[in-house]
Amino acid sequence: MGASKNPHDDISEVLLNEETIAARVKALGAEITAAYPGNDELVLVSVLKGSLVFVGDLMRAIDRNVRIDVMEVSSYGGGNTESSGTVRILKDLSGSIDGLDVLIVEDIIDTGLTLNYLTSYLAGKNPKSVRIVTLLDKPARRIAELPVDWTGFEIPDKFVVGYGLDFGEHYRNLRYVGVLKRELYASIIGEA
Ligand code: IMP
Repeated sequence: MGASKNPHDDISEVLLNEETIAARVKALGAEITAAYPGNDELVLVSVLKGSLVFVGDLMRAIDRNVRIDVMEVSSYGGGNTESSGTVRILKDLSGSIDGLDVLIVEDIIDTGLTLNYLTSYLAGKNPKSVRIVTLLDKPARRIAELPVDWTGFEIPDKFVVGYGLDFGEHYRNLRYVGVLKRELYASIIGEA
């Protein structure tokens, strides 16, 4: 079964609406601003493509100087809903993070394998600090334990899309986070 013409028809439940997300992102921005007093460089490392929308809103909620860099990694195969555990770097940082504070901005932590890999990769580039902010956390499926500094929302073990998160590259532009109808991905996880 493919995606519908109207993406909203493929959503079984809106988990987090626009207002709820906006209020939480604003609060996260204030906490992050307070956690980095002074004028030292802070580099937000956005993990593409899922954190694209989140980082856009979060950076405007942080009231201090920041630099933005992006990395693109792939841990899921195209259209898949299960982490393979193998992380590939599709796009590396453009600038140096030597001696700088780094804040990894992630959309969702599921098994934790992607961020586990990424934090040790970035730690190898001699930053002053590496911290993590994630919009969503699915703790039920965690394999790799991670020191997550800021979490927007803990969510149940359901496959979600919207606000940057995709299924087969669709649904990223939804303004809310919603649960994808199970029949849309049941065949891929071997249920149908
Ligand atoms: P992890 O390595 O299992 O923690 O997976 C993290 C990555 O898997 C995220 O950055 C997302 O790209 C993707 N992912 C995990 N769960 C979901 C979901 O419910 N919807 C969309 N993407 C997800």
